Amino acid sequence: MPRQGPGSNKYTRKAYKLLPTLPPRPNILDVGCGSGMQTLELARISEGQITALDNYQPFLDDLKRRAEAEGLDNKIKTINGSMLNLPFAKGTFDLIWAEGAVYIIGFAKGLCEWKPLIRIGGYLVVSELTWLRTDMPNEISTYWKGEYPGIKTIAENVGIIGQEGYDLMGSFTLPESGWWDDFYKPLRRRINLLRHKYKGNREASAVLDASKQEIDMYKKYSPYYGYVFYLMQSK
Ligand SMILES: C[S@@+](CC[C@H](N)C(=O)[O-])C[C@H]1O[C@@H](n2cnc3c(N)ncnc32)[C@H](O)[C@@H]1O
Repeated sequence: MPRQGPGSNKYTRKAYKLLPTLPPRPNILDVGCGSGMQTLELARISEGQITALDNYQPFLDDLKRRAEAEGLDNKIKTINGSMLNLPFAKGTFDLIWAEGAVYIIGFAKGLCEWKPLIRIGGYLVVSELTWLRTDMPNEISTYWKGEYPGIKTIAENVGIIGQEGYDLMGSFTLPESGWWDDFYKPLRRRINLLRHKYKGNREASAVLDASKQEIDMYKKYSPYYGYVFYLMQSK
């Protein structure tokens, strides 16, 4: 898989370029980096030093290989650790970045717990699964209540951003191509491949069914929810 959640280089770049004032060599933390599609893009477009953190070593190994192949390994350091307990001193980072990952700790808790690690005036950028409309049909509202009870509307998340001591600098919704091109299309290919490999294995089939259901839901209900980038400045 090129990445482990919705997103694309174009929109990583867009979010980064919207940040008004970063030092020439920003110190960046990429939380829940996965195999690091966005880490590599951040390394390409900034002169900064990036710490890429995930708790799954095979993703970090993959990122290391990709960084070396592109000659970006001097800008990227990988750390196997948990976002629930980040091992860094106060004010270490000019920018914390988390694409499709803050949901693991929870939107409000992530904003609260990561804030001390950002220097005052520094930034937090996250992309988060968000309701785009409030008139959603029962089927999709029940589905996401089961899969991600923390899902909120843009207005609710903007409220949390203020309560947690950040200014919202900008926000935009990832277009549907950002779900399909580097995520759901490759995921669909993997599901088909693994169906053969794990034929007769009930546990594996349940995992594949769940992934397929997620894709089917998006196909049917994409106007109702999306991934929203929130660009925040720590006050
Ligand atoms: C949906 S993926 C997003 C990956 C990547 N940012 C992207 O957009 O392609 C979430 C990532 O969080 C990682 N993860 C899960 N629990 C974690 C934890 N407690 N601490 C750090 N990373 C975690 C997973 O291994 C996975 O790589």
